Amino acid sequence: MKNRLTADDVTPKHLYLNRRQIMAGLGGIAAGSIGGPLMARTPDQAPGVDMAGGETANTWEDITTYNNFYEFGTAKSDPVENAHRLTTSPWAIEIDGLVERPGTYSIEDIVSGMTIEDRIYRFRCVEAWSMVIPWQGFELGQLLEQVGVQSGARYVAFQTLVRPEEMIGQNRATVPWPYREGLRLDEAMHPLTMMATGIYGETIPNQNGAPIRLVVPWKYGFKSIKSIVKITLTDEQPENSWNQILSREYGFYSNVNPQVDHPRWSQASERRIGDGLFARRRDTLMFNGYEDEVAGLYEGMDLAEFY
Ligand code: MTE
Repeated sequence: MKNRLTADDVTPKHLYLNRRQIMAGLGGIAAGSIGGPLMARTPDQAPGVDMAGGETANTWEDITTYNNFYEFGTAKSDPVENAHRLTTSPWAIEIDGLVERPGTYSIEDIVSGMTIEDRIYRFRCVEAWSMVIPWQGFELGQLLEQVGVQSGARYVAFQTLVRPEEMIGQNRATVPWPYREGLRLDEAMHPLTMMATGIYGETIPNQNGAPIRLVVPWKYGFKSIKSIVKITLTDEQPENSWNQILSREYGFYSNVNPQVDHPRWSQASERRIGDGLFARRRDTLMFNGYEDEVAGLYEGMDLAEFY
């Protein structure tokens, strides 16, 4: 089977925005009334790609040099410096638990069976900064449908690679490795939930979670686990790394919620990376602006309790 995201297929960066006129996906920023093609500028030329609706996609530079990826160190600049050591090919994902067709699938086989889309999403980190990122990838629900979810499954657990020879941050116990995350099954099946393999039409850089990472745009960034090697369907709520480390600060749900403060800081506003040091902070939006699409998933739940 053919991997859709080989170098041959990726549109050269300088043509990318002209050709594809990226539109945000379902629920994306440019959807509906504020929709419109991005301006034809390249990611590395542009100080930012202007989007209708007053939001600007962050530059390639912002997106790929200011990262959280503790496997490569805890400073924002560590991933871009250290992640080149990671071998991302060959790569496979083991899918097990309550599925009809458990197995270890190569990334080529997985990607070739999926509909790859461009989606521009807001990305809100729990540290109260944000970006706007043009991803390529596919809906996680497509993959789960292909492996067949058994009726008893309620949650999806994810794990990142453990390879301390290449992931030098794993030589310290900052996180109980492997990094883990989890979603409720309905969150995982939601059409906004993506597995990303690219950014700005380029293969996803190592520091951003190559070769494949989760993107859940209505949740704080730490839910978007990088460099995934294992997916397990379970009937019990799985462990997630930040909750293991500091459960009072980081819950299982971690939905972006301006009304529920982090115990040590407010979540009411955010600093957009690239806005400049003295720019006005932006108000954080409920569910990061995806409220219409996802609020129904949490109907009747006390979001202060299920934070
Ligand atoms: N995934 C792994 N495996 N390890 C990590 O340290 N950091 C998380 C998340 N996924 C992290 C991870 C956090 S805290 C954030 S904010 C996002 O990745 C950052 O994604 P970005 O660097 O691509 O913006």
